[in-house]
This record gives sequence, structure tokens and C-alpha cells, in this order.
Amino acid sequence: MKLWGGRFTGEADAEFARFNASFAFDRRLLAADIEGSIAQAEALINVGILSADEAHKIIAALQEILRRAREDQAYLDSRESEDVHSFVEAELVALTGDVGYKLHTGRSRNDQVATDLRLFLRAEIDRTLPLIIAMQGALVALAEANFDCILPGYTHLQRAQPILLAHYLLAYFEMMKRDAMRLAEIRRRVNQLPLGAGALAGTGFAIDRQLIAERLGFAGLAENSLDAVSDRDFVIEFIGAAAIIMVHLSRLAEDLILYATTEFAFIELSDAVSTGSSLMPQKKNPDSLELIRGKAGRVFGHHAAMLATMKGLPLAYNKDMQEDKEALFDTLDTLRGCLQVMTTVLGNLRVNGERTRAAASVGYLNATDLADYLVRKGLEFRRAHEVVGRVVRQAIQQGRALEELPLEDYQQFSPLFSGDLFAALQLETSLANKPALGSTAPARVREALAKAKSELTMPTNLPEEA
Ligand code: ARG
Repeated sequence: MKLWGGRFTGEADAEFARFNASFAFDRRLLAADIEGSIAQAEALINVGILSADEAHKIIAALQEILRRAREDQAYLDSRESEDVHSFVEAELVALTGDVGYKLHTGRSRNDQVATDLRLFLRAEIDRTLPLIIAMQGALVALAEANFDCILPGYTHLQRAQPILLAHYLLAYFEMMKRDAMRLAEIRRRVNQLPLGAGALAGTGFAIDRQLIAERLGFAGLAENSLDAVSDRDFVIEFIGAAAIIMVHLSRLAEDLILYATTEFAFIELSDAVSTGSSLMPQKKNPDSLELIRGKAGRVFGHHAAMLATMKGLPLAYNKDMQEDKEALFDTLDTLRGCLQVMTTVLGNLRVNGERTRAAASVGYLNATDLADYLVRKGLEFRRAHEVVGRVVRQAIQQGRALEELPLEDYQQFSPLFSGDLFAALQLETSLANKPALGSTAPARVREALAKAKSELTMPTNLPEEA
């Protein structure tokens, strides 16, 4: 029996029926739908709609449906269904007889699908967090393995100041840390129960929603029935958080693509994550990273799509909201794929420390250290900046590095210069002279790395219980 046939005399247009159906994709909610339905069956005992026997019969049948679906993909296509909810009800009735028709008492597909989606997303967040942590682990491992590696830090993509590669990698660790925190926070808002809101006004039965919430591991209730069925903030928020993760992955991808060019040659990507050219035999292309960068756009698109879908909707449920699923599913698949591939890229990366060191040595990246040197000799920073600017200009004219100018030349610019300036110009000194917390001094980076490592196993990094 159709879920809504009684009022109709005409048949749905075949083209429209296909257009309306969501089973092709919302079958992904099957396990959640069954979990929610089991809780619904239990709740119906307490209000006298189901006897304990009937409820147990229904629950056993629901479990059987899930078992069959897991065993045999073709099972889901064994009957034409509008959506996952109608499939489950039809199969339930096939297994239990008419008692199965009682399960939907006091429930609407509106509170049902909202519940399914929240159960589903909660589990998916729990599967995604470990992938973020795995990628953080890969960043930490790469930083440890190349702790002494110095490379140019850039602003405006112009060589700026020398930094440790480990420091650079830990910048991405921080971004991922915020990403994990953001997901954990969103999870708290996902973890609210809509079931019992009915179609929009609440159910006609005194269902104990608190009990259902506890049974399903929800931390609380969606407290207004209209909001419960029409809210998709949690989908928008999640896709938004995924979009920010994709921004981070894409920026890292962009850096690594650049660093893998012959022009930079700071790193070499493993063959395992590269491809060749069908025409140019010498090519080794960073397709893995380009795809990560490219797929960011796709997740941004889902975010914009969901905002646009929701913005004009009158309360409460509208079928427009069925569009939430493909956006969410594709976001999850894309995000997880990118996290996994990036982890593999990082795990197989070779760093050319000689190249990066050479690059950090050319281009006056130690000019700021020279200005700091004059400040330590008592000059105001702005004046020191001016003096060093003039030194740099002369060095450029002569085609020399700062450490190649003779002391006599320096002393024409300022009497504060003496022989110890050359030590200040060395790469190692430049790094060591950044002692504040959060800086690239090796001592600071070592501490940061140890902290990062300990955070990999911290419980705050993991999803909260239930
Ligand atoms: N497939 C629908 C969706 O995803 C389920 C809810 C249908 N509700 C309704 N009133 N037609 O949104």
C-alpha cells in the first residue's frame, strides 16, 4: 500500500514519480531509519498503541530488513519505492502483516527523516574525525622526520624570512585542530531528537520523547515541533565546516604543487600519488593534489546550494528539503576522500633539504635579522629598517648576499655595525632569534611538536560519548 494513496483517484505521472522519488540516494539512511523505527516501536508500547509482543515482532522484522539489505544489495531494488521510509514500511508489512501498519502512528516522514539525517550525520562525523587526526599525525611525522629542514617562508609569494619546515607543517596542524573542534561542536547541535514532532504540530499521542532521545543516544530534544521538522541548520553548518576543511586542504595542496615544480624543487611527490602524461614521457603530475584543490569548489557549491534551498522556505516542511541529502552525502564522500589522499601524499613525500636551504639563503631573507641586530645595539627599529634597506640596495647593485659585504662597507651605513653582525646573518641564528611562543625558533618548534603529538591522542580530539 502507498503511504498516501487514499485521497487520490488518479495515478502519478511516471516521469513525475521518478522525479519525486529519493530512494536511489536516501537508501543510505536505511540503518538510521531502522534505528529510529525501533525506538518508535518501543515508544508506542508505553502509549498503548502496540503490545509488547507486537513491538517485538516489529523490531525483529526491522532488524531482518537491515540484515537482508546488508547481505544483498539487490534486495533494496526488489520493490519500487518512493523513498527509504516507504521501502521499510512496505517490507515491514510484508514480514509482519497488518501490525506493521501501526508503526507510523503519531509519526510523520517529516520528523522521521529529520531524525534519520541526524542519526546518520552523527555517525558520519564520528567516522570523519579520526581521518582529520590521521592527517594531523602525518603532518607531525613529516615534521619530525625533517626537523632540521629550513625553507623560505613567503608573504605575497616573495621570499620573506627563513622558517623550519616543521613550523610550516604545524601551521596546518593548527588549522586541522580547529576543524576537529568545529566538527565536535556541530555534533552537539546535530545530536538533538526531532522524532515526536509529527508532521509539524506534535503527535496525537503522549509519546515520551525524552525516552526516545535516551534510547537513540541524543543529548536532548528539538524543543519546538515546527522547528524540529523544518530545521536543516545542522546540514548547512556541517557542510560549512567541511568547506573550511577543504579550504585548508586546498591551500596545502597549492603549496605542495608549487613546491614540487622544477622551479622550486623543494619536494618530490611519491609515484603512488602522481600520474604521467599520455604524450610527454618526462611528466610527473601532482593529480592527487590538484583534485583535492579542485574538489574544494564542489563542497563550496553544496554549501551555497543548501543556503539557497532553505532561504525562501515557509514553515514547516517543504519537499525542497529533500535536496539536502545529495549535498550532504557528496560533501561527506568528497571530504573523506580528500583527507585520506592528503594523508597518503604527506606520508610519502620526499623533502630536498639542500634545495630548501639554498632557497632560504638567497634573496635577503636575513635582512630583518640585520635590522634586529641594530635594534639590539640601541637603534630605533624604524631607523634600523631604513639603514638595512640601504644596505640591501647596495648589495643588490653589487649582486652579493648580505654576508658577502665587507665590514667596512657596513660601517659606512652605521657606526653600530661590528664584526658580530655576520653571526646574526646566519640562517641558524635567524631561526634561534625568534624566541617568543609560537615562533619558528627550533626550541619553540620542538615544544610545539611535542604538544601536537600529545594532542593526537587527547580525548578532546575525539567525539564525545553517544
Ligand atoms: N523523502 C523525503 C525527504 O527527504 C521524506 C520526507 C517526505 N515528507 C513529505 N511530507 N512528503 O524530505
